[in-house]
Order: sequence, then C-alpha cells, then structure tokens
Amino acid sequence: MNSELVRRLAEDGTLSDAGFAELLGTDAYDAALFAEADRVRRREYGDAVFLRGLIEVSSYCKNDCYYCGIRRSNKDASRYRLDEEDILACCAAGHELGFRTFVLQGGEDPGFTDGKVVSVVSKIRNRWPDSAVTLSLGEKSRASYQAYFDAGAERYLLRHEAADRELYESLHPSFMSWENRIRCLYDLRDIGYAVGAGMMVGPPRQTAAHLIADLRLLEDLRPHMIGIGPYMTHSGTPFAGEPNGSLPMTLRLLAVLRLMFPQALIPATTALGTIHPEGREMGLKAGANVIMPNLSPADVRKKYLLYDNKITAGPESAYNPSLLAARVEKAGYRVVLTRGDPKGWKE
Ligand code: 5AD
Repeated sequence: MNSELVRRLAEDGTLSDAGFAELLGTDAYDAALFAEADRVRRREYGDAVFLRGLIEVSSYCKNDCYYCGIRRSNKDASRYRLDEEDILACCAAGHELGFRTFVLQGGEDPGFTDGKVVSVVSKIRNRWPDSAVTLSLGEKSRASYQAYFDAGAERYLLRHEAADRELYESLHPSFMSWENRIRCLYDLRDIGYAVGAGMMVGPPRQTAAHLIADLRLLEDLRPHMIGIGPYMTHSGTPFAGEPNGSLPMTLRLLAVLRLMFPQALIPATTALGTIHPEGREMGLKAGANVIMPNLSPADVRKKYLLYDNKITAGPESAYNPSLLAARVEKAGYRVVLTRGDPKGWKE
C-alpha cells in the first residue's frame, strides 16, 4: 500500500534515509502524502493561512551567491536602500490593512548598519506594539543578532541553503562559509528568536541525498519556520543556463516537512507562485500555512529581483488583500492577520 510509508512518517515524524529516498523519488505517494500533510496542518492550525507583510529593505548585497540575482557581481541589478521613513510608511500602510507581522528582508548591505536596524525595529515595536517584527538580513555576528533581539525583533529568517558542505560550496563563492551560516542559525536559536531555515529545491548539482541531508539538519535545528521554494534561474548569474527546480519535488518536500514538523510555520513562497500561476495554492494544499505578500513601495519592487519573472502584482501585492483572501478561500483556507506566533516558541 502506498500509504504505509506516509503513515509511518506521520506517526514517527521521520523516516530512514532509504524511506525518504523512496518517498521523494516517485509521484506514487503524492496523493496520500498531500492528504496526510493537510490533515496534520488542519489538526495544528486549522484552515489558517497567516499573512506577513514583506518589506524588501535593501537590494545591496556584499555576497555573491551564484544563483541570486542581487549578487554583488550582477552589475545590471539596480540597487536601492529604503530609509527609516520609507520602512515606517510601509508598516503604517500594512498595519492599516491589518497586518500584524512585518518582515524586513534584504541583501547583506553594509550600509544598512546595525544602528539603523536597531533604530527601525525599536520604532516599529513602539509604534505598533501589537505587531511582530521578523528580520531576514543574512549572516551577522552574535552580538548584532542580540542587539536586534533586544530592540524587539523576535523572529529571524536565514535559510541554511545546503546542509551538505560541498553542495553549499558549489553554490557560493569561497569567501562565504558553511560553518558561519550554521553558526548563525544556532546563535539565533540560542538568543531566543523564532528561527526560520530552509533551502531551495533543485539548484544545480543538488541530488535527493542532498535534500535528505537538509532534512537531517532541520531535525537537529528544529526551526520554528521553514522556507523552501524551487530554484529559479536568473539570467544575470553564473547559473543562467541552468533549468528551474521542480514544482512537484517542492510540493512533495513541503508535505514531508509538514509531517516532520507539524507545528512549523511554512510559507507558500513567491518562487512557488512564480513557477506556476497556482503554485501557492498547491503549496497550501501540500501543507504550507503562511503567505508573505509584498508591502515594499511599488517603485522598488521590480528591483529586488532574485530570479527572472519574479511576481510582484495581483495577489502577490499586500495592497490587494481581498484578491489574496479570495484565492486562499478558493483553495479551501482562510487568511488570518494576527501575529500568529509559531507554536512551541518560548516554551
Ligand atoms: N531562485 C530561488 N530562490 C532564490 N533565492 C535566492 N536566489 C534564488 C533563486 N534564483 C532564495 C535563497 C535565499 C532567499 C532570500 O531566496 O534561498 O535564502
């Protein structure tokens, strides 16, 4: 029976490497897998889809990840940095629309200094004490992470990108370090953040064994949030000739993650919405329960281009909440605008 392996995963929250390889290597389990993931998600969070307002604060980046459109070597990327006023204006608009979580995401921009981060985080928390601030600003020192936390940021998103060091090194320039990335994640956890990790599905050279290593790393880290999405080609990167990652494999992994981490907050990401017009809905049905619509000012949105054709309009925009709500309802879920803290955080 095709559901036996799925039942075991749901019951134990894990499988052997061989079990994962079997599950990920075929579409034979998909129907049972997605149904079980949906059952577990409804058991834990009902039909809620938590909305987060995403503000892309800077497209400057000192890193040079081979897959990413805002890598520093991409001379064609137009760069911008929002100032504090811009960011607070986005939050004000978002708060008015009902958002109670603001995600400040950006490249690793030395010009977006710790002082600026601390100042804007404190102001957001002071002005809107009912709202949570999530940061996604890359690798920093433990002291910086602590300062942001003390200023009131409570969640941090930093994808580990690849648990396998060799794969990590083939996706990143030699001045970046796998150890440092992992160090960051454990520091964040230790400080008390709700931590988000994750990886792309289908970047060049990634195998099923690499993905299983990612699952093992996540088992050890036990993040509160897990972001995954298909690798998407960007024409201005060294990987320009490489194909996009696979939608079915991404959905399968979303469902596996839901069964491994029943309480995790798992977004249906922009990359998923870009690879297929209904990718996000498919993601929700495979176990995802968060959407992060874009609150960035319209004039900069096209500049935060991690990959080609990234969607920015329609339900992707935070400024069309009813459009997004309708799509989510059509998929069988309901948008929720509360802070929506991850279960298990602070316990
Ligand atoms: N395709 C898909 N995801 C990407 N990211 C960066 N570049 C791409 C791409 N070309 C993801 C990385 C990073 C996050 C901000 O976006 O996983 O952590």
